Amino acid sequence: MSVGSEGREGFTSRFGIICAAAGSAIGLGNIWRFPYIVGDSGGGAFLLIYLGFIILLGIPVMLSELIIGRRGQRNALGSFKRLAPGKSWYLVGVMGIVAAFMILAFYSTIAGWTLEYVIKSLGNAFSGKDSGDISAMFTSFHSQAFRPLLWQLVFMAMTAWIILSGVQKGIEKYAKILMPFLVLLLIIMAIRSITLPGAGAGLRFLFQPDFSVVNSSVLLAALGQAFFSLSIGMGALITYGSYIKKQNNLGNISVEVSLADTLIAILAGVAIFPAVFAFGLDPSEGPGLIYTVLPNIFQQMPGGYFFSIIFFVLLAIAALTSSISILEVVVAYMTEELKMTRKKATIMAATAAFFVGIFCTLSFGVLSGTSIGGLTIFGVLDFTASNLLLPLGGLLIVVFVGWYMKRTDVRDEMSNSGLLKIRLFNALIFILRFIAPVAIAIVLFDSLGII
Ligand code: TRP
Repeated sequence: MSVGSEGREGFTSRFGIICAAAGSAIGLGNIWRFPYIVGDSGGGAFLLIYLGFIILLGIPVMLSELIIGRRGQRNALGSFKRLAPGKSWYLVGVMGIVAAFMILAFYSTIAGWTLEYVIKSLGNAFSGKDSGDISAMFTSFHSQAFRPLLWQLVFMAMTAWIILSGVQKGIEKYAKILMPFLVLLLIIMAIRSITLPGAGAGLRFLFQPDFSVVNSSVLLAALGQAFFSLSIGMGALITYGSYIKKQNNLGNISVEVSLADTLIAILAGVAIFPAVFAFGLDPSEGPGLIYTVLPNIFQQMPGGYFFSIIFFVLLAIAALTSSISILEVVVAYMTEELKMTRKKATIMAATAAFFVGIFCTLSFGVLSGTSIGGLTIFGVLDFTASNLLLPLGGLLIVVFVGWYMKRTDVRDEMSNSGLLKIRLFNALIFILRFIAPVAIAIVLFDSLGII
């Protein structure tokens, strides 16, 4: 009896962890950001490089974060302080908290758009419109001030509310059930998309690599997207790692979550690009890509009215299970290190992120003319956080685990104190010490013109 019930408990909590980590990874990064970055970066060659980065850099960084978190048993900053007392490593945590604010600010802008599209879907707003009308509808929405800000506020409030309802209950409960439905819907949309007349050009764009378009900024974009999509480089998974029980296998979790995240991104690509070409749209149109493409697909689908409602609702939920992991980084830090109550920390952090987010949202409207180094406010936040802070954080995280932590401690954490057999340990250490740091440094510094 007791063995049985123990076994069951173990399974349930492992499932909860996978769901929470996958819930963090799978979000707007896969469905909104991945397609538009692929489109911006010329297609197939980007995809191959991206996949290479996920395997060689993404999985090792994710595993390193989980190791740091579970061993440190604290938030992103506190874990470093505990594992490296008196050293400056905690600054990696500080950088992560800064990145968390920036990401939350623009993430809530885009998630707000998704909420608007739930309402548009409910009102049957896409029916009878051609792709020109649908693009015009998107432009007229994001260039306003009031509605996008209202939705951003609603989204931020929902994120804060879930964080306030507590760690396990809050996070795991919401992550568990719904994502399989999102996958199912994406499959249906992908089928509709690849059966549109003229779809072949989109599949070739996505899967036929043309390496002549690759330059250092494409490499940096792939690196940033890999880190963003896996939720790594700023301590979100250090924070979640600290909630993982001792008996869970961190190596397996990293591989499974990365695999699921990558498959969903590719699925989103297969749903989007055939339609982009079939409807004569521009793959490199930027952050609005899915909002101008997807309504066209729903238009051409039997039951498209219902599918569009369900899809945008699920996308908003996927965004929510990601945004809570971002806010949790800040809240865990404020409660543990600054000794604030969870309530106060959550309200303060969400309010501050919303404040920054206002400028980001308006940068698609009244502030669209404001540019800093050729980028809008959204562009600056996204580029700084995704392409600079996350890779730099990831670099320092693998160096910490590969060089600073004792090898026996790393082995102990990965094998659950010797209970699990671990394969490829030496290969992993080699990647953490040499391959990953050097590769990240080359891409990062090359694109910044430092080397
Ligand atoms: N990975 C999430 C997505 O794809 C976004 C996200 C959640 C994130 N937590 C993060 C990105 C931490 C970077 C760091 O939508």
